[in-house]
Amino acid sequence: MSKRSERKEEHLALAQMFFNKEKQNYFDQVHLLRPALPETKVNLNSIKTTMFKKKVSAPFFINAMTGGSKKSFEINKSLGYVANKANIAMALGSSSILVNEPDQLASFSIARDENPDGVLMININPLTPAKDAKTIANELQADAVQIHVNTVQELAMPEGERDYRWLNNMKELQNAIDVPIIVKEVGFGFDQGSIKLLKENGFNLIDVAGAGGTNFAQIENSRNSNDLTYLEDLGLPTPVTALIAKKAGIDYIVSGGVRNPLDILKGLVLGGKYVGISNVLLQKLLDQGQEGLLEFVQEWKKELAGLMAIFACSNLKNVQEIQIYYDLYLKNILYQLNI
Ligand SMILES: Cc1cc2nc3c(=O)[nH]c(=O)nc-3n(C[C@H](O)[C@H](O)[C@H](O)COP(=O)(O)O)c2cc1C
Repeated sequence: MSKRSERKEEHLALAQMFFNKEKQNYFDQVHLLRPALPETKVNLNSIKTTMFKKKVSAPFFINAMTGGSKKSFEINKSLGYVANKANIAMALGSSSILVNEPDQLASFSIARDENPDGVLMININPLTPAKDAKTIANELQADAVQIHVNTVQELAMPEGERDYRWLNNMKELQNAIDVPIIVKEVGFGFDQGSIKLLKENGFNLIDVAGAGGTNFAQIENSRNSNDLTYLEDLGLPTPVTALIAKKAGIDYIVSGGVRNPLDILKGLVLGGKYVGISNVLLQKLLDQGQEGLLEFVQEWKKELAGLMAIFACSNLKNVQEIQIYYDLYLKNILYQLNI
């Protein structure tokens, strides 16, 4: 197995080891005002939407995780199966490995084989050569391309990147790729300045991927002989980075620490066009297999539609009218950052 494939398998094992539903989650500090008398009824149509011009049954999706190893072939096969059956979108893990190891293609393309017509996003690192990225996007018939920006993770990795001048290549990627681009964090969120820079350079969709869920500094630290645990606290809470994106006036996906349908609704109320979920779905798959995960996703759709009804929303546009209030910890951060 190559070093890169080995790392992919280690990430899978460590994401499982650190998965802990009880850890601090900032969605608990966001509250939605609920009408006692909503005058609505539960309707699965209320959560249908479109994503990159395709119809999907729900605004939540399977966010980027894996590809490029034997185990990830099996995982992407199952995730593709579930995405197809439930008609939700899915993002693959970073496929930049294909630049040097093209024989790993099947571990990604299996998700497309399982879900020929659904929404499939690919994920690449910001330094992927534009020509290769274009080829990969075509091979996988990508509906959109996520470019991950993951400085904290790179710094925590002994073999990680030490040069973070990424924007020039990102612009080349933008010129070369003809499907929409999403610039995505990996669990540390986006600040005002970086969003401004992205906007100035023509990027108009981000995935805030904030803190509160999977922590890649923690994952990398356990693969690492130095003690870099202090990096684990560098993330912006997901609700904070979502509100930063809202104020900055860019379209955004909310992800990072989503655990249940109420978190999804909160992500939408916080202004997310869609809500991404990674580790919770992966752990469900590892625990209960693809039929178990499919049942879980179908149940979440019903529960989200239920929440929509009790919050008096008959469609996803109405969600923006729900009033939010915050616990003081989050309110304090928002105040200090002038959000
Ligand atoms: C096993 C695993 C592998 C991941 N690999 C990638 C990746 O290749 N590219 C990426 O942008 N994010 C990757 N992520 C990060 C997720 O897409 C997401 O941003 C992060 O896990 C926070 O979401 P969560 O709290 O729902 O897990 C990975 C996450 C997990 C759990």
